[in-house]
Amino acid sequence: MMFTDQAAKLRMIQSYNKMEQESLMSENTALNTTKQDRVNSTPKKTRVIAVTSGKGGVGKTTFSVNFSITLSKFGKKVIILDGDLGLANINVLLGIIPEYNIYEVLRGKKRIQDIIVSTHFGIDFIAGANGISQLANLSDSQRENFLKDLESLNGYDFMIIDTGAGVGQNVLGFLKPADEIIVITAPEPTAIADAYGMIKSIVANKYEKSIRLIVNEVENAMQAKRVADRIIHLSAQFLSVEIDNLGFIYKEDLVQRSILTQRPFVIAYPNAKSSSCIMHIAKRILNLKEEQETGSGVSGFFDKLFQIFQNT
Ligand SMILES: Nc1ncnc2c1ncn2[C@@H]1O[C@H](COP(=O)(O)OP(=O)(O)OP(=O)(O)O)[C@@H](O)[C@H]1O
Ligand SMILES: [Mg+2]
Repeated sequence: MMFTDQAAKLRMIQSYNKMEQESLMSENTALNTTKQDRVNSTPKKTRVIAVTSGKGGVGKTTFSVNFSITLSKFGKKVIILDGDLGLANINVLLGIIPEYNIYEVLRGKKRIQDIIVSTHFGIDFIAGANGISQLANLSDSQRENFLKDLESLNGYDFMIIDTGAGVGQNVLGFLKPADEIIVITAPEPTAIADAYGMIKSIVANKYEKSIRLIVNEVENAMQAKRVADRIIHLSAQFLSVEIDNLGFIYKEDLVQRSILTQRPFVIAYPNAKSSSCIMHIAKRILNLKEEQETGSGVSGFFDKLFQIFQNT
């Protein structure tokens, strides 16, 4: 349950408004931090979070984009990777047209810095879609160059990967090397069953780090709780895995509208209920202290990904 009482809700809205004002005031400094600043900051362990779902169309891309922007409003450096090997659509939500993707870097035609796209919303973006499967075909020296190039990305606090839906090897491959996995579901029974199926596959794939859950497109907090409880209970009982309930997001028309206008809803409608929900989720992620020092870094992630693709 997100708000226990009206006062807490008001405090949340006030704190969000304050944050929005501060972020607007510092927009020119914070949001205009250049790509180079973000890329070259002190090396740190980037937290790599993969966003996935069992059923398609439950809101992974919408969440990934709005969540990344919200983390950046908290002063975090965030890069979002389109890991969907099917339709790539983060760029549509952000209104940008990437010229290159990771494929050109793998082929040695571009440096990683050349393919990062800075957005107006404080986050950077890499189109990965059509390139990643080429990882398996690299020679040792190409691979080493690629991983070395990626070390320049270690200045990011977070890399958020928007994966495709379903339990295919491509998707599971992306999940395995991530530091955390967020599974998104909608309240429909089919989506719940598929979310459980996805968790089952993740566990079967010997994933040992945190699996978190978000219920999207809910009518109210009670519905969110019912759905989350069901998935958490099933996972505990049949898979012996503890799922962390990260929160929920309301079903609101403005989410669709913000896609049409290509202005993510946390920017276009900062006071909307769904924006508060995303802020609540971002705060939870930032407060999970045990996870803060355990990121594997961007190059660490790709190194593991490389091994996975090579072995399949
Ligand atoms: N909270 C919400 N309220 C209303 N509509 C929503 C919400 N979240 C997502 N949607 C809508 O649902 C549709 C699917 O969303 P999105 O593309 O983010 O899903 P996806 O899981 O990334 O899909 P795919 O599996 O095809 O990659 C979009 O039209 C989006 O506007
Ligand atoms: Mg998507």
